Amino acid sequence: MQTSKRVKVWDPLVRIFHWSLVAAFAVAFVTEDDWMRLHALAGYVVTSLLVFRGMWGFVGTRHARFTDFVRRPRVVLEYLRSLIRSGARRYLGHNPAGGAMIVVLLLMLTLTALSGMVVYAIGDKAGPLAGWFLGTPVWWEKIFGELHEGLANTTLFMVFVHVGGVLIESLRHRENLVRSMWTGFKRV
Ligand code: HEM
Ligand code: HEM
Repeated sequence: MQTSKRVKVWDPLVRIFHWSLVAAFAVAFVTEDDWMRLHALAGYVVTSLLVFRGMWGFVGTRHARFTDFVRRPRVVLEYLRSLIRSGARRYLGHNPAGGAMIVVLLLMLTLTALSGMVVYAIGDKAGPLAGWFLGTPVWWEKIFGELHEGLANTTLFMVFVHVGGVLIESLRHRENLVRSMWTGFKRV
């Protein structure tokens, strides 16, 4: 849909995906131990959202498709260089650096959720992977626990970089990208 001043960029599913992901990630991050059932539930919501986004990246609307924003490393580096020279162009969809960060976030979230399911399977003999890890030595729980924690913390760090990138781009182009991710519209 296009009006004289604004153009629709993010379809409703991308927006619902994004803000649900933020909420589910936040819930998963602050719950564990006594809240394990809620923690696992939030982790499953994250996983379901990732599965959806993986498919939507192939069959979704124009700017939701991976082909629209996944660029070769050389293009990402060129974009970052032009950013330093203050000559980077504006993109309606994700810019090359933002696109790279999105791929990193999606992969890190997948590994975090998977490693959590492994810890849950070994330690509590629960969750979708429980049957696969029957008889696994208990010390594996410690290793995967550390891995899960490390992945979760690294993902959180990436989220801060992501939000920093969003704020920098918003300032550079004097547009509210957060509002665009909420309403779906951007300036033409
Ligand atoms: C757990 C935290 C977060 C995760 C995992 C996350 C992940 C993502 C992902 C995967 C996308 C790509 C959207 C798509 O095409 O499907 C995205 C885009 C975006 N995110 Fe986040 N995000 C998080 C937090 C935030 C927060 C807190 C903000 C706002 C302050 C934010 C603002 C945005 C914006 C504005 C875009 C669109 C960027 C653009 O215009 O190219 N995100 N985020
Ligand atoms: C992407 C979503 C997830 C995030 C951000 C996340 C984050 C965390 C964090 C920060 C901890 C605390 C680590 C520590 O201090 O020891 C933790 C522990 C744990 N998580 Fe997750 N988690 C996620 C998904 C899952 C899933 C899907 C499951 C299983 C269904 C799961 C199972 C566990 C278990 C069993 C622990 C306890 C590990 C231990 O005691 O060493 N997590 N998670």
